[in-house]
Amino acid sequence: MSTPHPTIPDDARIAVVTGGSSGIGEAAARALAADGWHVIVAARRLDNLQRIADDIGGTALPLDVTDDASVAAFAAAVPRVDVLVNNAGGALGLDSVADANLDDWQWMYDTNVLGTLRVTQALLPALHASGGLVINIGSIAARVPYVGGAGYNAAKHGVAALSRVLRLETADTPLRVCEIDPGRVHTDFSLVRFKGDAAKADAVYANKHNLTAEDIAEAIRWVASLPAHVNIDELRIMPVDQV
Ligand SMILES: NC(=O)c1ccc[n+]([C@@H]2O[C@H](COP(=O)([O-])OP(=O)(O)OC[C@H]3O[C@@H](n4cnc5c(N)ncnc54)[C@H](OP(=O)(O)O)[C@@H]3O)[C@@H](O)[C@H]2O)c1
Repeated sequence: MSTPHPTIPDDARIAVVTGGSSGIGEAAARALAADGWHVIVAARRLDNLQRIADDIGGTALPLDVTDDASVAAFAAAVPRVDVLVNNAGGALGLDSVADANLDDWQWMYDTNVLGTLRVTQALLPALHASGGLVINIGSIAARVPYVGGAGYNAAKHGVAALSRVLRLETADTPLRVCEIDPGRVHTDFSLVRFKGDAAKADAVYANKHNLTAEDIAEAIRWVASLPAHVNIDELRIMPVDQV
């Protein structure tokens, strides 16, 4: 993790954004870059990542948060890190508990919970070295159950538990840990959840005051801009018509 990186200036403040290839992650990368951070965007869709990195003068690195070897190779390519935004995640399916699809639940746990754990563990030494900040993107699903949501509710409750315990375990160090829990944000989230069914995905957002990815990105930018003695433990952000 100490090898100099060809595209990262030695004095750059570095923010890593997982799931930086679309939606909230892309918007966060753009907002952080506009605030002066050198942003490393990481995900599986490399074309998207490279386009975004080129736009913002950042660095694109491949990452599959469900794959130990991919996380290890990614961490080895990150020279330093001041802010880690664990944003990679999502939902699959909206089945009742009675009809729960175990593969979907496995994907949600592996991507949201273990993915956050893998990347955090791998970058924790570098984050301690910088006195850094971890921002975990949870969800209102970590707080409020909903019909058909049990698998995603369970996964985001897991992310919340991980965030709070990491905060407790590092409270005597300079490391900061923040959990941001958005409500409904208009992104590809529902397209992924409904496995490409655009009509079902569009219906989620129709005739509603949805949050935008930029709304959440602004909160991420703000949390990352605060002085080192300020920890925003939890931030819940909702569209005005969602309770
Ligand atoms: N939209 C909402 O209403 C909402 C509300 C609350 C919380 N959230 C959370 O916000 C985060 C971002 O979601 P979004 O709304 O921006 O949806 P999105 O556009 O579908 O973004 C999901 C991101 O996660 C990445 N990702 C998924 N699996 C991955 C893997 N195995 N390894 C690496 N990256 C992976 C995707 O990149 P690749 O496919 O390129 O790998 C993509 O960049 C998620 O954690 C989601 O649960 C969303």
